[in-house]
Amino acid sequence: MRKVTAVMVLTGLLSWGAMANEVTYREHIKPLWQSQCMACHGANAPYLGEFDENENKYVKLNLGPRMDSYADLLMFVAWPDTGALMRRLDDRQYTQDGKPGNMYVYLGETEQQRQQNLALFKAWVGDQAWTLKRKNDITKEELTAIKAGY
Ligand code: HEC
Repeated sequence: MRKVTAVMVLTGLLSWGAMANEVTYREHIKPLWQSQCMACHGANAPYLGEFDENENKYVKLNLGPRMDSYADLLMFVAWPDTGALMRRLDDRQYTQDGKPGNMYVYLGETEQQRQQNLALFKAWVGDQAWTLKRKNDITKEELTAIKAGY
């Protein structure tokens, strides 16, 4: 049996609470993204196609692909970079190597903050849709379970 910690209980309550009022991009994800992700994925970062073509150059500058609008963020949830957001943010519950995704660390300064913010992202994407699968592996059911409301 896994030990149930206060953080897990709190996270459970928070994600339950978040699901009761639907988590939206405008209300919850945008401000969270602005405080935790914008520095490296904002207006000074290249859009996905340009990033992919010159990835080494941008990574050296500590810039990831730009995702500073609702539409641009959705590309990392649904298509073409299906599941990228989930793979990078997952805390290790679903990752194959048992390590958190490499953007998990940016979710907050403390483990508690990271867990709370992960719960928000999860509630936004939809718990049924929180799969780390890429576009060739994801099922139609999983794809249609994506909520990601505006
Ligand atoms: C300190 C800079 C920095 C911060 C802060 C940061 N990222 Fe990143 N991110 C990067 C860089 C650089 C890459 C590209 C290198 C790599 O793939 O790891 C990246 C890659 C990604 C990718 C993969 C994109 C792809 O091409 O598939 C996703 C998704 C992502 N970040 C999401 C986030 C989210 C969500 C946050 C906020 C919680 C965040 N990142 C915060 C620097 C950052």
